[in-house]
Amino acid sequence: MTTKPAEPKAKPRPAGKSADEMGKMQREISVSEFFTKNRHLLGFDNPRKALLTAVKEAVDNALDASEEAGLLPDIVVKLEPVAVGDGPVPAASQATRFRVTVIDHGPGIVRDQIPKIFAKLLYGSKFHRLRMSRGQQGIGISAAGMYGQLTTGKPVKIISRTGEKQPAHYFEVQIDTKKNEPLILEKKQIEWERHRGTQVTIEMEGRHQKGRASVDEYMELSAISNPHAQFTYHSPEGETKVYPRTIQHNPDPPKEIKPHPYGIELGMLLKMLQDTKSHWASGFLSTDFSRVSPETAEQICKTAGVSPRSARATSSARRPRSCSRRCRRPSSWPRRRTASRRSARRPSSRACISRSRARSTPP
Ligand SMILES: Nc1ncnc2c1ncn2[C@@H]1O[C@H](COP(=O)(O)OP(=O)(O)OP(=O)(O)O)[C@@H](O)[C@H]1O
Ligand SMILES: [Mg+2]
Repeated sequence: MTTKPAEPKAKPRPAGKSADEMGKMQREISVSEFFTKNRHLLGFDNPRKALLTAVKEAVDNALDASEEAGLLPDIVVKLEPVAVGDGPVPAASQATRFRVTVIDHGPGIVRDQIPKIFAKLLYGSKFHRLRMSRGQQGIGISAAGMYGQLTTGKPVKIISRTGEKQPAHYFEVQIDTKKNEPLILEKKQIEWERHRGTQVTIEMEGRHQKGRASVDEYMELSAISNPHAQFTYHSPEGETKVYPRTIQHNPDPPKEIKPHPYGIELGMLLKMLQDTKSHWASGFLSTDFSRVSPETAEQICKTAGVSPRSARATSSARRPRSCSRRCRRPSSWPRRRTASRRSARRPSSRACISRSRARSTPP
């Protein structure tokens, strides 16, 4: 007779969580926390790319700010290898940590704005305007600073001055990643040899390699594509390369342009309808879009079966008033042909309700 081997005892499974327990775990995720975990979305995937992205973000801002102020861009980029701990400063090719400094001779930044610009994600001046610029999202330079903070624990150091008669301000800032708010570690007025401009210094983990997609190549390509800008590049090997400007004036500034109806999605159209200052559908189309004349606007309304004089679709705050408290009929609905002028504008609520019933009753 054979005996069956004893079956191993099944381990008791931990009880699953209830909806209440799961509900207690829900909480808001700050934008900085999100990008801390998803830094690849901002171009900080690996140390080599991170170094290039940080330089590019600072140079983009320097070019945008100088051009916007009508100044010829004059930009200095400096990369220095930094020792980790007490060890000696390694050679550029061996270094894993760098100090990135970008200096421009642009308009400078007013003192109160400095902490938010460099230590708050989604803060900037370019997002809400409909004009071309290199940057837009208000995330570039603060993300570079946040990457530096994450990988080295060091704050972003900024010097900025808005004019010869103004003092230069020095700041050291970090992001409070829970709140996406700047933490000011140091702020003071200092002597600065430049009369105007901004200097930003970020210490970060990085890797410097020559060749394709390197900072060296980026500097060369930037000098070619921006012949009105002068670049001075201090490489981590200690070389200095100057790329003088070859054109002595800035390109014409880009013009702000309204969207074209073809490029607008439905949700965007609804948002624009809520925000428009026009009172009529045709006015909205001809003033809030580019290349829509009043005649084309009338034509669009006709094709869509909308009265050109119909009031805009608005949020509840701006919805046209109903004719009475009990009546759901907005006062902009077409008037009854038979009624007198006065009663047509404000028909009795009974008439309105019966009409709305009639409309909803299937034939
Ligand atoms: N060197 C600078 N001189 C003057 N203003 C600057 C400078 N750097 C940044 N700014 C201001 O700070 C804002 C935020 O810069 P940031 O790089 O974070 O965002 P952005 O350039 O607007 O968009 P993007 O995220 O696409 O780079 C800019 O919109 C600009 O107004
Ligand atoms: Mg930018």
